[in-house]
Amino acid sequence: MTRVIAVVNQKGGVGKTTTSVNLAAGLAKLKKRVLMIDLDPQGNATVALGIERNETEYTAYDLLMGEVSCIDVRVRAEQARLDVIPANGDLTAAEIELINQDQGALALKNALTPCLGDYDVVLIDCPPSLNMLTLSGLAAANGLLVPVQCEYFALEGLSALMNTVQRVQADLNPDLVIDGLLRTMHDRRNNLANDVSNQLVAHFGLKVLQTIIPRNIRLAEAPSYGESILDYDVNSTGAMAYLALANELVRKLKF
Ligand SMILES: Nc1ncnc2c1ncn2[C@@H]1O[C@H](COP(=O)(O)OP(=O)(O)O)[C@@H](O)[C@H]1O
Ligand SMILES: [Mg+2]
Repeated sequence: MTRVIAVVNQKGGVGKTTTSVNLAAGLAKLKKRVLMIDLDPQGNATVALGIERNETEYTAYDLLMGEVSCIDVRVRAEQARLDVIPANGDLTAAEIELINQDQGALALKNALTPCLGDYDVVLIDCPPSLNMLTLSGLAAANGLLVPVQCEYFALEGLSALMNTVQRVQADLNPDLVIDGLLRTMHDRRNNLANDVSNQLVAHFGLKVLQTIIPRNIRLAEAPSYGESILDYDVNSTGAMAYLALANELVRKLKF
């Protein structure tokens, strides 16, 4: 069975895209067949994997509009050895069009059916809001991976996300689970980060993943070279952390 994981948090800048790209590359390194779907009109995950966001024949927009099959939309990220559904600014229009459709929230789930069997795991990089695009990601997913930056307002944002998850479970996707909360951009010398990290564990227990992603400048540099951290600097602490995360998830979720 293919595991579909949405990387979601309505807060911007918490490490969703960095996690989608580098976890996807880590899973590919473990010989998993991986599809990464860019569901953010910014197209940052697309660019970070070395794909020109305005030069592919089709994008996630065409996929969500039901105009072309995922088989025709996907492109190969050669270096990282995985497939990508690319995105660019066109996706903003899909947001609006999906709201006006009866089954808009199910657009991604339905569109993925023809290629799901080609993959062990599908990662969905969601935009920084709880809009229709994110809802379509939550409806298509089996589980959620929630990057959390351990700072003061982090927990507050999570309760809004958990409310949305409950709504999605009730209306669209009863089997949706939280696969894990991932602490990102962590600085062990920062007392507040450690406090918030402890609160997170106290509140969410085993949902908090063991792997912690450290703050590492190499992770911030890699996208401008169109390379995952595993190609850009495999010996960096960031690369080791994302490989550890890939291993932890494979063990935990058994895909
Ligand atoms: N572990 C990290 N260490 C250093 N910089 C990071 C790390 N994770 C993300 N960043 C940087 O922080 C910014 C926001 O990360 P990003 O993954 O784009 O967040 P989101 O997708 O949630 O908006 C980016 O500039 C990214 O390069
Ligand atoms: Mg992002």
